[in-house]
Amino acid sequence: MIGLTKSGILNSIKKVDDERIDKNHLILNSIKNFEIKENDLDIDLSLSIPQTSVNDELKSKITKAIKEDFPELSDVKLNILAKISSHTDKRKDALLPGVKNTVAVASGKGGVGKSTVAVNLAVALAKDGANVGLIDADIYGPSIPLMLGIKEKPKIFQKEDKVVMQPVENYGIKLISIGFLIDDDAPVIWRGPMASGAIKQFMSDVNWGELDYLVFDMPPGTGDIQLTLVQTIPLTGVVIVTTPQEVSLIDARKALKMFNRVNVPVAGVVENMSYFLAPDTGKKYDIFGFGGGEQLSKDLNIPFLGGIPIDSRIRIGGDKGVPIVFDLPDTEYSDIITGISRNLAEQINLINLNASSKVEILLDDEE
Ligand SMILES: Nc1ncnc2c1ncn2[C@@H]1O[C@H](COP(=O)(O)OP(=O)(O)O)[C@@H](O)[C@H]1O
Ligand SMILES: [Mg+2]
Repeated sequence: MIGLTKSGILNSIKKVDDERIDKNHLILNSIKNFEIKENDLDIDLSLSIPQTSVNDELKSKITKAIKEDFPELSDVKLNILAKISSHTDKRKDALLPGVKNTVAVASGKGGVGKSTVAVNLAVALAKDGANVGLIDADIYGPSIPLMLGIKEKPKIFQKEDKVVMQPVENYGIKLISIGFLIDDDAPVIWRGPMASGAIKQFMSDVNWGELDYLVFDMPPGTGDIQLTLVQTIPLTGVVIVTTPQEVSLIDARKALKMFNRVNVPVAGVVENMSYFLAPDTGKKYDIFGFGGGEQLSKDLNIPFLGGIPIDSRIRIGGDKGVPIVFDLPDTEYSDIITGISRNLAEQINLINLNASSKVEILLDDEE
């Protein structure tokens, strides 16, 4: 019989069947506070999951498991301390030691709203309390400074024996853009070769500090330039943006194939310009077709993070440099984008959990 001790309680928690509880990483040290007063238990449990994954369902599953094993307890006060999990990767740790996760936002085709999605997801993650950085790596059309209303250039300063760039901040996120370096009239042919060098520099010579997510707005397409970039960045996962129509889906598949070839996990698909709700009549129009993004996810067995409708306010937000989750926080559109950002956080966490359990299994095999 296991007594009412820290390890006894840990044992009960390990019996909970829920993918948010990573049993390999549940150790005595996960219990940060443990107090028994008469028959009441007060416990703080630290889990490597985003704050947004903590809900009453998870809490009640855990308290139920504890109470089942220890019926003598009259009350269990459980507090879950969430922590965003980190991608462990030697290359990432060397290049970006303060950054937990790197996420590419990519598309096969240009003009599908990749930058709009990257900006709004970054801002929504930050609004939920994460530390977020954004690298505008789209050499063909760096548009993020405009979308974030940023006009100034990053400051350059000396840090120890290195010259570093200080990212420009707005709406709680830190930005570096390839647009800060190349001028709008520079020929595209010259941008390719410098792209991977510039992106390398954006990782090693920028004062990012501690970040939960570093998001990359990738150049559209699946050519050599894109492939080189994907191999340059140690990526935790990729988000593919597509519109519902066939021409975009075909290119989205190509992009997925490219990331698959270099072993970057897919965090999910976002369908942009999913539908249009007429503001006067409320009628729904499927301008670019219906359900293509979701079907793609089903066909390829990858997560569907959600669909974003077409709305002039989303476009205006981009043009005037105020992302919609900030400009119109209490609208359906902001809720949709926030929901997608939470799905993304959850998927990144699952990618990290899967990777760490793989490591665990390998270690077991070696014994
Ligand atoms: N859901 C949307 N509703 C309305 N306009 C959108 C939406 N998504 C993107 N746009 C607009 O479409 C244009 C292209 O989007 P952008 O994010 O620049 O695409 P990409 O980065 O894929 O080239 C921009 O003018 C943007 O404001
Ligand atoms: Mg763009």
